[in-house]
Amino acid sequence: MPHQGLDILITEEKIKKRVKELGEMISSDYSGREIVVIGILKGAWIFMADIVREMSMPVSCDFLGVSSYYDSTVSSEEVKLISDIRVPVGGRDVLLIDDIIDTGFSIKFIKEYLQSKGPSSIKLCVLLDKPSRRKVDITVDYRGFTIPDRFVVGYGLDCGEKYRNLPYIAALQ
Ligand code: IMP
Ligand code: MG
Repeated sequence: MPHQGLDILITEEKIKKRVKELGEMISSDYSGREIVVIGILKGAWIFMADIVREMSMPVSCDFLGVSSYYDSTVSSEEVKLISDIRVPVGGRDVLLIDDIIDTGFSIKFIKEYLQSKGPSSIKLCVLLDKPSRRKVDITVDYRGFTIPDRFVVGYGLDCGEKYRNLPYIAALQ
């Protein structure tokens, strides 16, 4: 049963099926290579845990902590680095994992930051894309679902730190 005040947009079953498909695409694109998977905290944590288990090549995992949403549903252009990766990425293939791309400001900042460490490639995989709100031009290499302009929670995404543990994606009413 959904929580009160939430509309389920993407069910647990649909997420599972799509995550498996994305993992298979990634495995075939990087077949025979080894990659560094970097999850953006905190929103990407659950998605990353599921998608790396669908990857068949060797992966190293690390996390980058950034903050852009200050406890509300209002987006901020200012992105702050809270915690850095420890796995070296120089000369390696990096796959960035994030929960959602909205304005694109955080991913733009993160990509530029990681680029300065000299990886041989950086690709982006997001579970959700809200293209109607994009402010900067970003290539999304792997996309789970395109969603309308609504504030969503669940499967790692929060509202004031709540709802991350819901197994589905829901919109606040
Ligand atoms: P940006 O606007 O693309 O920079 O998005 C920044 C971050 O805001 C995302 O990585 C999410 O963590 C968060 N965010 C954006 N839209 C939503 C939403 O609908 N629900 C929860 N978090 C969101
Ligand atoms: Mg995020």
